[in-house]
Amino acid sequence: ESYDMGGHDTYMHKEISEQADAVDRVLRGRIDDRFSTVHLGGLNLDAREARGVRRIKILGCGTSYHAGQIGAQLIEELARIPADAEPASEFRYRNPVVDPDTLYVAVSQSGETYDVLAAVQELKRKGARVLGVVNVVGSAIAREADGGTYVHAGPEVCVVSTKCFTNTVVAFALLALHLGRIRDLSVADGKRIIDGLRRLPEQISEILGREDEIKRLAAEYADAKSMMFIGRVRGYPVAREASLKLKEVSYIHAEAYPASELKHGPLALIEPAMPTVAIVPDDDLLEKNRAAMEEIKARSGRILAVAHQVQEKADHTIVVPKNENELDPILMGIPLQLFAYHTALAMGRDIDKPRNLAKSVTVE
Ligand code: G6P
Repeated sequence: ESYDMGGHDTYMHKEISEQADAVDRVLRGRIDDRFSTVHLGGLNLDAREARGVRRIKILGCGTSYHAGQIGAQLIEELARIPADAEPASEFRYRNPVVDPDTLYVAVSQSGETYDVLAAVQELKRKGARVLGVVNVVGSAIAREADGGTYVHAGPEVCVVSTKCFTNTVVAFALLALHLGRIRDLSVADGKRIIDGLRRLPEQISEILGREDEIKRLAAEYADAKSMMFIGRVRGYPVAREASLKLKEVSYIHAEAYPASELKHGPLALIEPAMPTVAIVPDDDLLEKNRAAMEEIKARSGRILAVAHQVQEKADHTIVVPKNENELDPILMGIPLQLFAYHTALAMGRDIDKPRNLAKSVTVE
């Protein structure tokens, strides 16, 4: 690839660093303050059709699948439409029930991932309506979909996705807000979310400004053979994506669990050599998350928390700026991109091209 690295040593670092501008781009020209909503020109879904949607099914692979999981939560929270995300590769093979009142959303950075494309083609053949949430303009999935929205992350070269993940989640927040304001989201809540979205670029810059601190923390945990990532509800897909990022670039084994499931098995793994990264937003699950950290401490587990305030139960906390509860997941994953990056750097990994992986998988 010939894109300029702009003074960064790796594309991953460049792309992480570009996120404030990238988010600014996905928001630009779309916010309508008069009606506290957003315009997404390419959806091809009028208000009547939007009101008729009974369910939303989001399909993607890898990081895009995780972005879709946060997207499904945003849609449920803001638009009150039942929504869930599933790996496109699995969906395609289980002869899914294709329902005319379900809106399907295909998510892909490249727009070329074969499993996603094949799922879209199968859905269309069965008469379903499919939207694309895609980064690469004019790509196969964008062309195949009935409409959709571009995430405007700009070119992403590093095999592992960072800025496109963040922008995809923001694009889902826009879609959720748009659908919400056609349905039951109040003007006041619409405005609250818009104000929150507008705060994101500055808050992202604030997180990126703590890189030295995150680098020190990465060195602190780099001896781990394996790491556990936990979160609940909004924090869980953040934990999953952070765990994937660490695996992909550092090759350290990591797994993600809902904090609530720890006691049903994975607690058996906790010991000093298996540290935990806990996603602890300041929301109604804060006390539950604190209790989970207490359980881990009682088993001599080390804890790195990503939270809105210093967590006493944790050994270390990365404090991130607070936004609206619904938008918190967008920010909480960003320090963990830097955490994965610095862990991999310290281990001398080939960061932009991890072994065995490809930027886009265009075969089955
Ligand atoms: C590959 C990449 C992942 C990516 C996934 C989906 O496996 O290594 O980083 O998340 O494909 O790619 P897409 O372009 O569809 O988002």
